[in-house]
Amino acid sequence: MSTLVDSPGSSQITGAKPPARLSLRGLAEILEAQRTPPTLEQLYEWLENTEISREELKPYLGFKEGNYWRHRVCRNESVEMLVLCWRPGHRTPIHDHNGSHGAVLVYDGVLWESNFKFDEKSGLAYQEGREYRSGQVTGAGVPDIHQLGNPDVSGQNLITIHVYAPPLGVLKTYKVGSPEITLYTPDESTV
Ligand SMILES: [Fe+2]
Repeated sequence: MSTLVDSPGSSQITGAKPPARLSLRGLAEILEAQRTPPTLEQLYEWLENTEISREELKPYLGFKEGNYWRHRVCRNESVEMLVLCWRPGHRTPIHDHNGSHGAVLVYDGVLWESNFKFDEKSGLAYQEGREYRSGQVTGAGVPDIHQLGNPDVSGQNLITIHVYAPPLGVLKTYKVGSPEITLYTPDESTV
C-alpha cells in the first residue's frame, strides 16, 4: 500500500521539496545544453513545469496584422524554442513538421487545434478539433498533420510558446480533399 499523500501540503509532511518551476531563461538554458533531440514526452514535461513572467516574455512579444508573428528564443542543432503572437483570426496553414516533433504551451488566450488524416488516394480529411486555454500544453508527434490558430471569435490576442526537436526546417502543407503536398518555409525574417 502506498504511503504517498497526493494533497496540497503533502511535501511539508514528507519534507520533500516540490520541483523548481522553470523560468523562460531556465528552460532556454536546458534546451541550449541538449546535444540530441529530446523526446516529445520530455518537451511536454518541461513546458508543463514552467512559470514564466510577462516581464521575461516581453522581448518576444509583438503582434502584426496580416499574420501571426514568430519570435525565436533559442536554437541549436537539437531543439529550438519560439514565442508566437497571434491576433484573433490568425492561423497556420495545415502542416506537418517534416520529421520534427513539438509541444506548445498556451501562455495566454485561446488556441484552436484541428487534426487531419492523409490518404494518398483520397487526400486530406478533417479528423477532430480541440480547444486549449492558458496553461495547457498540446503537441504534435510524427507524422501528425494539424492547423493551429487563434479563433476570430476569441476576442483576444493569443501568446503561445513552442519547442521543436529537431528545429523546424521546411514544412509540408496540405489542403483538405486534395492529395497535393506543398513545401513551406516558415517566415524567418521576423525571428
Ligand atoms: Fe505545427
